[in-house]
Amino acid sequence: MSENNLFSECWIKNKSLKNRIGLAPMTRTSSPGDSIPRKDVLDFLVRRAQNGAAMVFTEAVLTDYESAQGYPRQSRMVTQRQIEAWRPVVRAIQDAGSLAVMQMFHCGRVSWPEINPAGRVIAPSPVAPEQDNPLTGKPFHVPDEMSRFDIDHVIQGFVETARGAVAAGFDGVEVHGAHGYLINSFLSAYSNKRTDDYGGSAENRFRLARRIIRAVREVVPEDRLVTFRISNWGVVDMKVPLFDKDDWLSMIGYLDQEPVDAVSVSTLNFSDSAFGTGQTMAELTRQKTAKPLMICGRIYDRNTADAALAHADIVLSGKSLLLNPNWVEDIRQNRPLEPRTPEEANVAYTDQALP
Ligand SMILES: Cc1cc2nc3c(=O)[nH]c(=O)nc-3n(C[C@H](O)[C@H](O)[C@H](O)COP(=O)(O)O)c2cc1C
Repeated sequence: MSENNLFSECWIKNKSLKNRIGLAPMTRTSSPGDSIPRKDVLDFLVRRAQNGAAMVFTEAVLTDYESAQGYPRQSRMVTQRQIEAWRPVVRAIQDAGSLAVMQMFHCGRVSWPEINPAGRVIAPSPVAPEQDNPLTGKPFHVPDEMSRFDIDHVIQGFVETARGAVAAGFDGVEVHGAHGYLINSFLSAYSNKRTDDYGGSAENRFRLARRIIRAVREVVPEDRLVTFRISNWGVVDMKVPLFDKDDWLSMIGYLDQEPVDAVSVSTLNFSDSAFGTGQTMAELTRQKTAKPLMICGRIYDRNTADAALAHADIVLSGKSLLLNPNWVEDIRQNRPLEPRTPEEANVAYTDQALP
């Protein structure tokens, strides 16, 4: 068991966190037209920092105008106006003593043509998710198998967006390598059927992630963070495990060699046994990396947070912090709290301003 304590200070590289609780990245679909989130959505992030979260992740920010988008009204960080809209938000999060980290995302095969300005859906292989798209009610589009040009273009999108985050003053950026989206779909043999050097072996499937991490690292100053999020589940075909145990350990081992400052593991339930090992995902992941480890998934009260910290350094909360602005204080006081349901979280996508 680790010595970590929920309300003790913690470090990621040169950055101090006032406690071990962070706001998980949450897409809010509030950025029409100019790709800048609604003011109440930005204020929501600042309030989470002021109310005790040591680290605040933004929603998943899109990395290019061709094929990255997968949900309506997502945000971007590449124009001067977008950067200027975020600058005071980042400063307010930092003034509250918290870290601001921007998550970057390419939707990959979970997207559909009409949602993107250039109308394309791209993925490692021309394999559509099995289930229908819940947003369109129709089958998913069979994606274009990415060419070498597409791969370079996607990497540049992450780089340009990371530059925007640096200009906006963020403490760091996160590469979204989880949930079945583009990077994750390269990592998993379930969706990556390529026969070139981006498919086949675990090392080949990791190649795109490696190139993105290294390219992003080059434009993010050394005193700011690069983190990577990974999961064994996707938002589509959710029941399908994306890795087996050895594959997962390989991916974490490769990540460990890369210039990322922390690894964020997203689970459906942090306490579940991973791959039938009797160990949790965090416990298993720890075997392959000593980097700071964030864990997320049904951490909703003091007991679950303490239990999750047994094998991780930082706990992230999605729905609990989304719906309860006083969550950090509630768990400090060890108040009894119920896990929030996915249905309750749907309010995130409405025009309703959250407390
Ligand atoms: C409304 C909503 C939006 C989300 N958007 C993102 C996202 O943009 N990026 C991401 O990595 N995870 C996203 N997630 C997943 C959360 O970060 C988190 O992993 C998940 O909610 C499980 O944690 P919880 O049990 O504490 O809610 C989202 C979750 C919700 C509820």
